Amino acid sequence: MMKLGLFVQGGGHHVAAWRHPSTPPGASQDFAHYAEIARLAERGRFDMIFLADTVGTFGPDDLEVWKRGHSASRLEPVTLLSALSSITTNIGFVATFSTSFIEPFHVARLFASLDKISGGRAGWNLVTSAAPSEPFNFSRDTHAPPAERYSRAEEFADVVVGLWNTWDDDAIIEDRDAGIFFDESRMHYLRHRGEFYAVRGPLTVHRSPQGHPVLVQAGQSDRGRELAARTADVIFTVQQEIDVSRAFRADVHARATKYGRDASAVKIMPGVVPFIGATREEALAKFEELQSLIHPELGIRILSELIGTDLSVYPIDGPLPEAPPKAGQEGRQRVVLEMAKRENLSIRQVYQRVAGARGHRIIHGSVKDIADDLEEWYSTGAADGFNIMPPLFPASLIEFVELVVPELQRRGLFRREYEGATLRENLGLPFPANRHAARA
Ligand SMILES: Cc1cc2nc3c(=O)[nH]c(=O)nc-3n(C[C@H](O)[C@H](O)[C@H](O)COP(=O)(O)O)c2cc1C
Repeated sequence: MMKLGLFVQGGGHHVAAWRHPSTPPGASQDFAHYAEIARLAERGRFDMIFLADTVGTFGPDDLEVWKRGHSASRLEPVTLLSALSSITTNIGFVATFSTSFIEPFHVARLFASLDKISGGRAGWNLVTSAAPSEPFNFSRDTHAPPAERYSRAEEFADVVVGLWNTWDDDAIIEDRDAGIFFDESRMHYLRHRGEFYAVRGPLTVHRSPQGHPVLVQAGQSDRGRELAARTADVIFTVQQEIDVSRAFRADVHARATKYGRDASAVKIMPGVVPFIGATREEALAKFEELQSLIHPELGIRILSELIGTDLSVYPIDGPLPEAPPKAGQEGRQRVVLEMAKRENLSIRQVYQRVAGARGHRIIHGSVKDIADDLEEWYSTGAADGFNIMPPLFPASLIEFVELVVPELQRRGLFRREYEGATLRENLGLPFPANRHAARA
């Protein structure tokens, strides 16, 4: 069965969603709004809700762009998901937590607690962080170089998983007559000593009904893929082309096999932004309505960032100028410059294409068109499922749940009822045997 994650972001994934008349004012910080989304997603039998996170907003030089966008307005994800878990029964909850600014013990404990509170429905999206604004909130002014961030992340992930294994599933015996709370032979000190961390353990939280939280990652680089192949259960990814996505999935699965893992237990889920209409024309009109709400200053700023050249000095309806290669983003920059040249697009037309969905794949069409597209990607090995990114919350989610989900169910591609009570059971992932118990 196809897996579906719901990537939740305030009033919607489109950069101008908060300006649309259908989105409730204050959506991105309103618990009632998230509660409505969680209930809808569970009604649509989504596997999980996913929250991204950056631990910083823009700096003083970026106020012009910041004041026009809603993307940096968010609540702390684990806190929010803990509250949402108490009003739902089956849906899973994946929160992002960076390995760059906090100790692994904190992360192990936060997610083990979310896993207990939700009855085995928690997942951790490991990120290494890259947003320029973040270091300023943590007593530094730059990120460590990417290679060092990944070295730290690798050790961090090992410590977190190690701490999740410090109690056997049956360690807590609560023998009231004998006065023994836990069986010491089923508790294990971690005694980790590595390059970055020294952690004794054990954790203060015991094992949950799914063993331990699901591990999620989203790195695309060689180091990112390698870490994900070794440790992750689910991989979120940005993919525009079906062939490229198929190659990505095959590559990560081959790497997972190299680590002795069953490739089918590593789920690849690309992001998709669906615009749904009664007809293709209606879907396109919805898309264009939102595109027209992108404030020109915001659009120009996002495009300037992307191609590494200040475009505010050029006429907005004139051609996109040439730009020198932008270190670290040459691939994406080249795609945009070539598209503009090939199709003779103005600056306004280019930012309308790229600013809306932060590079994720946008599809527009009727319910049949959307279902056909997802079916093709799923059935030809380009994806195990999708990270659905509704352009507007709640309007586009309601359409997806009421129209697309039943069509996927009718085609036998998606569940009608949850398979189990935990996120692992619903994702079809194996129960992680406790390391120590497995060895004994
Ligand atoms: C769907 C998706 C969601 C992501 N969410 C976050 C996030 O919430 N916070 C973050 O700092 N990075 C996030 N990232 C970035 C990745 O985790 C990763 O750091 C980035 O792709 C750079 O790593 P790489 O060089 O290995 O690709 C996300 C990436 C994708 C594809």
